[in-house]
Amino acid sequence: MKILGISFSPRKSGNTVTLIEEALNGARQEGAETELYSVAGKEIRPCDGCWVCAGTGKCHIKDDMEALCDIMVTSDGIIFGTPVYVYSMTGQAKTVIDRMLCLSTPDRNLANKVGGVIVVAGSIGIIDPVKDLYFMMVMKKMVPANLVAVYASKKGEAKELKQGMEAARNLGREMVQIAAKKFTYPPEFPRNFFAFGTHTR
Ligand SMILES: Cc1cc2nc3c(=O)[nH]c(=O)nc-3n(C[C@H](O)[C@H](O)[C@H](O)COP(=O)(O)O)c2cc1C
Repeated sequence: MKILGISFSPRKSGNTVTLIEEALNGARQEGAETELYSVAGKEIRPCDGCWVCAGTGKCHIKDDMEALCDIMVTSDGIIFGTPVYVYSMTGQAKTVIDRMLCLSTPDRNLANKVGGVIVVAGSIGIIDPVKDLYFMMVMKKMVPANLVAVYASKKGEAKELKQGMEAARNLGREMVQIAAKKFTYPPEFPRNFFAFGTHTR
């Protein structure tokens, strides 16, 4: 079993990475393999809306997202960790999520993988990224685990928050235990990526 932690912070070794590392420690404690992926320093360009990937499962943009998709599809659980930037997830997080449109085909998707959420803010704005990340997981038919929300600003501050670090460790542990149950959604009910209305008649 493998648990992947993705940090959407452009800051190397910041609070998001600290908490993800602790969650991965927890996952290893339960016997899983782990991998940390940080978007810091990576080249991941925005989706250009061509929609080709919705049919092929492959994005035509050749950059670091290709490798990240491969790591995601070979993981059993994925932790999505983002700092709050201007009351929202980081631009890097949104870019990756948009590009994850390619992971929605029958043979290349994130269905039944366990998802965890870590959000770090300096002072305000945690709720929107939490909601957005959970909704993304619902649309991907992932199995949601816990969330860890932490207030920390400067690098290293998250490490001092004992309860937050413990919650992160427990998130990793919980994800392994949930994944071990091997829940699967019935395949015949696809998620609707649209609202019903005039355009669907
Ligand atoms: C461009 C920018 C925007 C930010 N916006 C917010 C914000 O809206 N609310 C908040 O509480 N913190 C905000 N912060 C602070 C970060 O969320 C905080 O420093 C966090 O610990 C960074 O996580 P990291 O160490 O993983 O990069 C912002 C930081 C930056 C650089």
